[in-house]
Amino acid sequence: MQIEIVTGAIQTQAAQAIVVNLFEGVTLPGGATGAVDAALDGQIRALIADGDFRGKLNEVAVLYPHGKIPARRVILVGLGKREKFGLDAIRQASASAAKKARDVGATHVHTIIHGAGVGGVAPEPAAAAVVEGTLLGLYRFHELKTQLEEVRPDLTTLTLVELDPARRTTLEAGARTGKIVAESTLLARDLINRPANIVTPAYMAETAQRMAAEIGLRCQVLDKATLTALGMNALLSVNRGGGEPAQLVILEHNAGRDDLPTVVLVGKGITFDSGGISLKPGENMHHMKGDMGGAAAVFGALRAAALLDLPLHVVGLTPLTENMPDAHATKPGDVVRSLKGLTIEILNTDAEGRLILADALTYAQNFAPQAIFDIATLTGGRVVALGDHAAAVMGDESLIARLRAAGETTFERVWPLPLFEEYGEQLKSTVADVANIGGRAASSITAGYFLSKFVPDGVPWAHIDIAGLDLIEKDMPYIPKGATGFGVRLLVEVLRGWK
Ligand code: BES
Ligand code: MN
Ligand code: ZN
Repeated sequence: MQIEIVTGAIQTQAAQAIVVNLFEGVTLPGGATGAVDAALDGQIRALIADGDFRGKLNEVAVLYPHGKIPARRVILVGLGKREKFGLDAIRQASASAAKKARDVGATHVHTIIHGAGVGGVAPEPAAAAVVEGTLLGLYRFHELKTQLEEVRPDLTTLTLVELDPARRTTLEAGARTGKIVAESTLLARDLINRPANIVTPAYMAETAQRMAAEIGLRCQVLDKATLTALGMNALLSVNRGGGEPAQLVILEHNAGRDDLPTVVLVGKGITFDSGGISLKPGENMHHMKGDMGGAAAVFGALRAAALLDLPLHVVGLTPLTENMPDAHATKPGDVVRSLKGLTIEILNTDAEGRLILADALTYAQNFAPQAIFDIATLTGGRVVALGDHAAAVMGDESLIARLRAAGETTFERVWPLPLFEEYGEQLKSTVADVANIGGRAASSITAGYFLSKFVPDGVPWAHIDIAGLDLIEKDMPYIPKGATGFGVRLLVEVLRGWK
C-alpha cells in the first residue's frame, strides 16, 4: 500500500472515501469532523442526536454526501472515551475505518490523523499509529485458498490529510516508521500462518537470506554439520527425530560496527512442535506450526532495525528445527552435553524450546553483547498465568523495565515473573547437571530459570515467553484471527529507545 501525505482540508478531498472521527459523548463535533458535518448540513450532528452514533471505540458509520463535498463517502469512526484515548485507540480506530472502507469497495482512502488534533497525541507517533493500524488491520492470509468467496480488493493508497503545512516532515517520518514496523509484523504473520510443510528450517533460512540481500543485513546460516562441529548438542538433540536438518540463522544489522552497542535477539524457531517422543495430544496440535513465532518476531525486528537504520549493532539468532518423533528421536532420560558444557537430562522431549535456546544463548557470547533478549513460545504455563493480554518476562530488571515501557506504547504488553534461586531446586537431575523440566508448579518460571543457566556470565538478559500469543482464535480490531506477529513491535520499540 502506498502512503501519502497531503496538506489541506479533509472536506475538500476528492476521494473514494474520507475518514473522520468522533469521541464518545461529543454532541457537536469540532475540528475536521465539524468541518465535514457543516459541509453536510449537520448530518453527523443528526446521527448523534438520533442516537445512531455514539462514538464508541471502533464504531463505524458510512455517510453519502451526494455531491455536497467531492468525496464519494464519509466514514465516521468512534474513538471511544477521551480519558482512555491513546496510541492503541488510534491503531484500532484506523483499522476499523480501513476495513469498512475495503468492505464498501474503496481502494484509495483519505483520512485525518486521529489524535493529532484535539486528541493531544504528538503528530509523529499519531501518524505512525494510523499507518500501523491500517496495515495490520487489513492483513489477510489467503494465499493457500484457491476457492475464495468474493474478495474485496486491497487498498492501494492511504492518504493522510493535515491542515498545517508545518507538520509535513514530522508526519512523513511517522508514516514511514509506521509502515516499516507494520510490514515487518506482517512478515512474521505470514511465516507463522504458513504451515509447517512449507515453513521448514530451510525455508526460514532462505527467507532470512533473501530478506538480508534485499535490505542490507548480514546473514549467515550454520548448517547441521557446522552445528555438530561447534557442539550445539542441545539444539541437535531436538532435531534428531525430524526429517528436516536443523539450521542456525544469524542476522546482523550494522555488522562489524564496533563503535555501536550490540544487542542480541534470540528467537525460538521450532517449525513444528509435536512434542517428540513425549508426544502432545492431537487436539490443537496444528497450533504448533506457530512454535517458530519467536524466530519470526526476530526476523521482523531485524528487518525493521535495518530499514529504520537504527544506530545499534543488532544480532538476531534463530535456532531452527522441527520437534518430531522417530526411531532416532531423543528419548526421555537421554543426556546431552550443551554448547556451554553443562549436561542436560531430557526428562520430557516436549520441553524442547529451552534446549535450542540454551545453545543459542551460549552462542550469543561471540558477539560480546550489551544485552540479550530471547523471545519464545515457551510454556503452556504462560497461557494459564496471563491469558491473552500479556507476555511473561523474566530476567534483568532494567531490561524488564524497558520491555514494560515498550509494551505500554505498542500494546504488546508484558508482565514480570520472578527467578528466585529457590526455583532452581526443581531442575535438579540425578544423573546430569540440570534437568529440562521442573514439574507442574511454576512451569514458566522453571523454564526461564533453565535458560538463565546458559546466558553468558555478566550479560544482562531478559526472557519473553509468548506461548499462545503467536496465534489467536478471535478477530481483534487490528489483529485478524490467526498469526499476530506478537513481539515485532515490542522489540523494535525497545531498540528504538536504546540509550
Ligand atoms: N511450544 C510449547 C509451548 C506452547 C504451549 C506454545 C501452548 C504455544 C501454546 C512448548 O514447547 C511446550 O511443549 N511446553 C511444555 C513444557 C512442559 C513439557 C515442561 C508446556 O509448557 O506444557
Ligand atoms: Mn514442546
Ligand atoms: Zn515448543
